[in-house]
Amino acid sequence: MAKWLDNAIFYEIYPQSFKDTNGDGIGDLNGIVEKLDYIKELGCNALWLNPCFASPFGDAGYDVSDYYSVAPRYGTNEDLKRLFEEAHGRGMHVLLDLVPGHTSVEHPWFRESMKAEKNPYTDRYVWTDSIWEEPQGMGCLRGISDRDGACAVNFFSHQPALNYGFYRPDPEKKWQQPTDAEGPQATLAELKNIMRFWLGMGCDGFRVDMAGSLVKHDEEGKGTIRLWQNVREFLDREFPEAAMVSEWGEPDKSLQGGFHMDFLLHFGPSHYNDLFRCEEPYFSGRGKGDVSEFVRKYMENYERSERKGLICIPSGNHDMDRLARGLHGDELKIAFAFLLSMPGAPFLYYGDEIGMNYVEDLVSVEGGYGRTGSRSPMQWDGSTNAGFSAAPAERLYIPLDPRADRPNVRAQLADESSLYHEIRRLIGIRQSHAALQSKGEIEFVYAEKNAYPFAYLRSAGDEKILVVLNPSEREASFACALEPKERLYVFGKEIAAADGRIIAAPCSAGYYKL
Ligand code: GLC
Ligand code: CA
Repeated sequence: MAKWLDNAIFYEIYPQSFKDTNGDGIGDLNGIVEKLDYIKELGCNALWLNPCFASPFGDAGYDVSDYYSVAPRYGTNEDLKRLFEEAHGRGMHVLLDLVPGHTSVEHPWFRESMKAEKNPYTDRYVWTDSIWEEPQGMGCLRGISDRDGACAVNFFSHQPALNYGFYRPDPEKKWQQPTDAEGPQATLAELKNIMRFWLGMGCDGFRVDMAGSLVKHDEEGKGTIRLWQNVREFLDREFPEAAMVSEWGEPDKSLQGGFHMDFLLHFGPSHYNDLFRCEEPYFSGRGKGDVSEFVRKYMENYERSERKGLICIPSGNHDMDRLARGLHGDELKIAFAFLLSMPGAPFLYYGDEIGMNYVEDLVSVEGGYGRTGSRSPMQWDGSTNAGFSAAPAERLYIPLDPRADRPNVRAQLADESSLYHEIRRLIGIRQSHAALQSKGEIEFVYAEKNAYPFAYLRSAGDEKILVVLNPSEREASFACALEPKERLYVFGKEIAAADGRIIAAPCSAGYYKL
């Protein structure tokens, strides 16, 4: 498997909002190339780009109309190739976003599939055989085709579901095809072609959108797991170094499917929200949160995925509230001391490194709805449009955070006590200690119900590192026989060890070698 994943630290870029170089108000690939040194300087050595393919942008590009072409607003395929080369030249890797579950209604395959006469795309999507029959358990799209049928949708109603077949087709319903039928097999072959195309051009792998959604009526995920195993075999043959990260949220399933890593997200049963995004997040200074359910669930996944531990906990992403909507100041620093000391690859959402905020009350842009506020332009400096774009403010893809005190990169670079510098330090420490990296083991030492602090042990070979986090504004302690020796990192005040207890000062974090 791709060795580089062992110490990968990802930076997620929403291309629309990162850096605009031609003054049209929308970020572009050249803008990303321009900022690679910035990302590298922060310590991130890998990128995940949200979809940058041709699309009518009804869901910000998650509605692809041509998988083989970069959307003109971002540049050309040549520009993307150059981005791969520029990244590789800096020792960085790039994941593209693969959207295998659905296309845009404007995709030529769908246009063909809507026709009444049979053609090579008739079975490319999941269609019932009568306009009056809805596909059970899925939303559908109907009444816009000559074809007599309803088409299943995967997400928004303009995102028809590609056909990979049904796990257990109902014999009474001929339109439910088995996964090995010709239509589903052709879809799968095309998916591999798409991957082959971009991997051949230099991309290093994919973040896979809704990876668990492909085979229908597959409650336990068995058919979808088998499908991804088949993809993995293809990759092992042709692109053994390709890295695969899934948006699935059930690591026990996705890792079986051959994914290297899976995300814990704001949906699903992971208790991810308990940490940063609920009424009383664990990382709030109020100290009323609970980390125990998260830990219980984490251990369950960790064991079920054979302690592979490649479970990614992102700082945020384009679908959820900004981390800084609920946490502030020191709270953010302590949250990052957690995020950057857990197994699996860390993922930083662009702008989270400077504490960019959620922009309230925006009108939805390109199917963003409530997510729009987390997708606003990157704040580079104090100049016009925060240095994002030379376009008139009203032409920006999404309006900038209007707050006068909005953070920016330039100011944080100049301030050693900024969030940016804290994160840079944390990354530096992670990168010089294998125990803190993706594959180091984890054992939770103290994670009691409604209690602070939170402590765990990371280890690799002989190296053992104790992490103690106390986001609360009160001193907190726990019984502990471990003896911290060398301090690797401290935020706030040093811990004290006395009489078999470890005492953590209010709002503090520390990493200690045993
Ligand atoms: C994923 C994406 C999200 C998109 C959806 C449909 O959850 O992260 O942004 O809207 O899939 O593709
Ligand atoms: Ca542009």
